[in-house]
Amino acid sequence: MPKILVAVAEGRLTAAATAWIEAALFDGALAIDATVGNGYDALFLAHRVGPTGKVLGFDVQKAALAGAREILKFVGSIDRVALIHDSHSRLADYLPAGATIQGAMFNLGYLPRGNRQIITKPDTTVSALRSVLEHLAERGRVTLLVYRGHEGGVPEYNELRRFLEQLSEQEWIVEELVSASDSPIAPRLFRIVKKSISKD
Ligand SMILES: C[S@@+](CC[C@H](N)C(=O)[O-])C[C@H]1O[C@@H](n2cnc3c(N)ncnc32)[C@H](O)[C@@H]1O
Repeated sequence: MPKILVAVAEGRLTAAATAWIEAALFDGALAIDATVGNGYDALFLAHRVGPTGKVLGFDVQKAALAGAREILKFVGSIDRVALIHDSHSRLADYLPAGATIQGAMFNLGYLPRGNRQIITKPDTTVSALRSVLEHLAERGRVTLLVYRGHEGGVPEYNELRRFLEQLSEQEWIVEELVSASDSPIAPRLFRIVKKSISKD
Protein backbone atom coordinates (compact mmCIF):
# COMPACT_ATOMS: atom_id res chain seq x y z
CA MET A 1 0.00 0.00 0.00
CA PRO A 2 1.39 3.47 -0.85
CA LYS A 3 2.45 5.50 2.18
CA ILE A 4 0.46 8.54 1.11
CA LEU A 5 -3.09 7.83 -0.05
CA VAL A 6 -3.99 10.16 -2.91
CA ALA A 7 -7.67 11.07 -3.54
CA VAL A 8 -9.66 13.66 -5.47
CA ALA A 9 -11.50 16.15 -3.24
CA GLU A 10 -15.22 16.54 -3.87
CA GLY A 11 -15.26 20.30 -3.35
CA ARG A 12 -12.76 22.99 -2.49
CA LEU A 13 -9.56 21.97 -0.72
CA THR A 14 -10.14 24.64 1.95
CA ALA A 15 -13.47 23.01 2.80
CA ALA A 16 -11.84 19.56 2.73
CA ALA A 17 -9.45 20.86 5.41
CA THR A 18 -11.94 22.49 7.78
CA ALA A 19 -14.67 19.84 7.51
CA TRP A 20 -12.13 17.12 8.28
CA ILE A 21 -10.18 18.71 11.12
CA GLU A 22 -13.22 19.67 13.13
CA ALA A 23 -13.76 16.01 14.10
CA ALA A 24 -10.59 16.23 16.23
CA LEU A 25 -11.69 19.39 18.04
CA PHE A 26 -13.93 19.81 21.05
CA ASP A 27 -14.67 22.25 23.85
CA GLY A 28 -11.43 22.81 25.74
CA ALA A 29 -9.14 21.56 22.94
CA LEU A 30 -5.75 23.08 22.03
CA ALA A 31 -5.37 23.99 18.36
CA ILE A 32 -2.61 25.59 16.30
CA ASP A 33 -3.01 28.00 13.42
CA ALA A 34 0.53 27.88 12.04
CA THR A 35 -0.08 30.71 9.54
CA VAL A 36 -2.65 33.23 10.80
CA GLY A 37 -2.66 35.56 7.79
CA ASN A 38 -6.08 37.21 7.53
CA GLY A 39 -7.33 35.16 10.46
CA TYR A 40 -10.02 33.02 8.83
CA ASP A 41 -8.60 29.69 10.02
CA ALA A 42 -7.96 31.15 13.50
CA LEU A 43 -11.59 32.25 13.61
CA PHE A 44 -12.76 28.77 12.61
CA LEU A 45 -10.49 27.06 15.16
CA ALA A 46 -11.52 29.47 17.94
CA HIS A 47 -15.14 28.60 17.31
CA ARG A 48 -14.39 24.86 17.43
CA VAL A 49 -12.32 24.85 20.64
CA GLY A 50 -15.06 26.74 22.47
CA PRO A 51 -14.81 29.18 25.37
CA THR A 52 -12.57 26.88 27.44
CA GLY A 53 -10.21 25.97 24.59
CA LYS A 54 -7.14 27.70 23.21
CA VAL A 55 -5.72 28.49 19.77
CA LEU A 56 -2.07 29.42 19.34
CA GLY A 57 -1.75 31.42 16.14
CA PHE A 58 1.59 32.28 14.51
CA ASP A 59 2.60 34.73 11.84
CA VAL A 60 5.79 36.61 10.99
CA GLN A 61 3.80 39.66 9.77
CA LYS A 62 2.65 42.09 12.45
CA ALA A 63 0.09 43.68 10.14
CA ALA A 64 -1.55 40.31 9.45
CA LEU A 65 -1.84 39.60 13.17
CA ALA A 66 -3.32 43.06 13.78
CA GLY A 67 -6.01 42.43 11.16
CA ALA A 68 -6.77 39.00 12.58
CA ARG A 69 -7.00 40.50 16.07
CA GLU A 70 -9.70 42.92 14.88
CA ILE A 71 -11.80 40.12 13.40
CA LEU A 72 -11.44 37.96 16.51
CA LYS A 73 -12.35 40.89 18.76
CA PHE A 74 -15.36 41.68 16.61
CA VAL A 75 -16.78 38.16 16.99
CA GLY A 76 -15.86 37.96 20.68
CA SER A 77 -13.34 35.09 20.33
CA ILE A 78 -10.10 36.97 21.02
CA ASP A 79 -9.77 35.52 24.56
CA ARG A 80 -9.44 32.05 23.09
CA VAL A 81 -6.60 32.95 20.73
CA ALA A 82 -2.98 33.83 21.51
CA LEU A 83 -1.66 35.70 18.47
CA ILE A 84 2.09 35.17 18.38
CA HIS A 85 4.43 37.28 16.29
CA ASP A 86 7.05 34.63 15.66
CA SER A 87 7.91 31.86 13.22
CA HIS A 88 5.90 28.69 13.58
CA SER A 89 9.23 26.83 13.66
CA ARG A 90 9.56 27.99 17.30
CA LEU A 91 6.06 26.89 18.31
CA ALA A 92 7.31 24.38 20.89
CA ASP A 93 8.57 27.35 22.95
CA TYR A 94 4.98 28.56 23.33
CA LEU A 95 3.25 25.30 24.24
CA PRO A 96 2.11 24.95 27.83
CA ALA A 97 4.17 22.31 29.67
CA GLY A 98 2.89 18.81 29.00
CA ALA A 99 0.20 20.02 26.59
CA THR A 100 -1.01 17.94 23.68
CA ILE A 101 -2.40 19.43 20.47
CA GLN A 102 -5.71 18.20 19.06
CA GLY A 103 -5.56 19.98 15.70
CA ALA A 104 -3.23 22.14 13.62
CA MET A 105 -3.73 23.97 10.33
CA PHE A 106 -1.01 25.15 7.95
CA ASN A 107 -2.14 27.37 5.09
CA LEU A 108 1.12 27.92 3.22
CA GLY A 109 2.49 30.39 0.69
CA TYR A 110 1.95 34.16 0.82
CA LEU A 111 -0.77 36.31 2.31
CA PRO A 112 -3.56 36.98 -0.22
CA ARG A 113 -3.66 40.74 -0.93
CA GLY A 114 -0.42 41.05 1.08
CA ASN A 115 3.32 41.09 0.44
CA ARG A 116 4.05 38.25 -2.00
CA GLN A 117 7.72 38.23 -1.06
CA ILE A 118 6.92 36.92 2.43
CA ILE A 119 6.27 33.23 1.95
CA THR A 120 6.51 30.09 4.06
CA LYS A 121 9.77 28.19 3.51
CA PRO A 122 10.43 24.43 3.27
CA ASP A 123 12.86 24.18 6.21
CA THR A 124 10.81 26.22 8.69
CA THR A 125 7.55 24.57 7.58
CA VAL A 126 8.98 21.07 8.08
CA SER A 127 10.49 22.07 11.41
CA ALA A 128 7.11 23.45 12.60
CA LEU A 129 5.35 20.32 11.41
CA ARG A 130 7.86 18.15 13.29
CA SER A 131 7.06 20.06 16.52
CA VAL A 132 3.33 19.70 15.96
CA LEU A 133 3.62 15.95 15.36
CA GLU A 134 5.78 15.54 18.47
CA HIS A 135 3.02 17.08 20.59
CA LEU A 136 -0.04 15.76 18.76
CA ALA A 137 -2.64 13.86 20.79
CA GLU A 138 -3.81 10.42 19.68
CA ARG A 139 -6.38 10.92 16.92
CA GLY A 140 -5.13 14.50 16.58
CA ARG A 141 -5.32 15.93 13.06
CA VAL A 142 -3.14 18.22 10.95
CA THR A 143 -3.89 19.87 7.61
CA LEU A 144 -1.37 21.42 5.22
CA LEU A 145 -2.68 23.36 2.27
CA VAL A 146 0.19 23.85 -0.17
CA TYR A 147 -0.02 26.42 -2.96
CA ARG A 148 2.25 25.46 -5.83
CA GLY A 149 1.50 28.33 -8.22
CA HIS A 150 4.10 30.74 -6.84
CA GLU A 151 7.88 30.64 -6.92
CA GLY A 152 8.81 28.57 -3.89
CA GLY A 153 5.56 26.61 -3.89
CA VAL A 154 6.78 23.49 -5.70
CA PRO A 155 10.04 23.17 -3.69
CA GLU A 156 8.02 23.50 -0.47
CA TYR A 157 5.55 20.86 -1.67
CA ASN A 158 8.39 18.48 -2.64
CA GLU A 159 10.16 18.89 0.69
CA LEU A 160 6.94 18.31 2.64
CA ARG A 161 6.07 15.22 0.64
CA ARG A 162 9.56 13.79 1.22
CA PHE A 163 9.13 14.37 4.94
CA LEU A 164 5.64 12.85 5.05
CA GLU A 165 6.71 9.79 3.04
CA GLN A 166 9.16 8.75 5.73
CA LEU A 167 6.68 8.93 8.64
CA SER A 168 5.96 5.59 10.28
CA GLU A 169 2.82 3.86 9.00
CA GLN A 170 2.42 2.33 12.46
CA GLU A 171 1.80 5.78 13.89
CA TRP A 172 0.41 7.99 11.12
CA ILE A 173 -2.14 8.02 8.31
CA VAL A 174 -1.28 10.53 5.60
CA GLU A 175 -3.61 11.48 2.74
CA GLU A 176 -3.07 13.85 -0.14
CA LEU A 177 -6.12 15.50 -1.68
CA VAL A 178 -6.04 16.90 -5.18
CA SER A 179 -8.69 19.14 -6.68
CA ALA A 180 -10.82 18.09 -9.65
CA SER A 181 -8.91 20.65 -11.75
CA ASP A 182 -5.48 19.40 -10.68
CA SER A 183 -2.35 20.52 -12.56
CA PRO A 184 1.38 20.72 -11.77
CA ILE A 185 0.80 24.14 -10.20
CA ALA A 186 -2.55 23.48 -8.53
CA PRO A 187 -2.76 23.42 -4.72
CA ARG A 188 -2.65 20.16 -2.79
CA LEU A 189 -3.94 19.32 0.67
CA PHE A 190 -2.15 16.95 3.04
CA ARG A 191 -4.16 15.52 5.94
CA ILE A 192 -2.37 13.71 8.74
CA VAL A 193 -3.93 11.82 11.62
CA LYS A 194 -2.13 10.24 14.55
CA LYS A 195 -3.31 6.68 15.04
CA SER A 196 -4.63 5.60 18.38
CA ILE A 197 -2.30 3.00 19.90
CA SER A 198 -5.16 1.22 21.61
CA LYS A 199 -7.73 0.81 18.80
CA ASP A 200 -6.37 1.72 15.31
C1 LIG B 1 -1.62 31.78 2.90
S1 LIG B 1 -1.32 32.89 4.23
C2 LIG B 1 -2.34 32.27 5.53
C3 LIG B 1 -3.82 32.53 5.36
C4 LIG B 1 -4.60 32.35 6.65
N1 LIG B 1 -4.57 31.00 7.17
C5 LIG B 1 -6.03 32.86 6.58
O1 LIG B 1 -6.96 32.19 7.07
O2 LIG B 1 -6.21 33.97 6.09
C6 LIG B 1 0.31 32.45 4.75
C7 LIG B 1 0.82 33.24 5.96
O3 LIG B 1 1.99 32.59 6.46
C8 LIG B 1 2.80 33.59 7.05
N2 LIG B 1 4.15 33.07 7.28
C9 LIG B 1 5.20 33.01 6.42
N3 LIG B 1 6.26 32.43 7.01
C10 LIG B 1 5.88 32.11 8.28
C11 LIG B 1 6.54 31.50 9.39
N4 LIG B 1 7.81 31.08 9.30
N5 LIG B 1 5.84 31.37 10.55
C12 LIG B 1 4.55 31.77 10.64
N6 LIG B 1 3.88 32.36 9.62
C13 LIG B 1 4.53 32.52 8.45
C14 LIG B 1 2.71 34.74 6.09
O4 LIG B 1 3.08 35.95 6.72
C15 LIG B 1 1.22 34.69 5.66
O5 LIG B 1 0.46 35.57 6.43
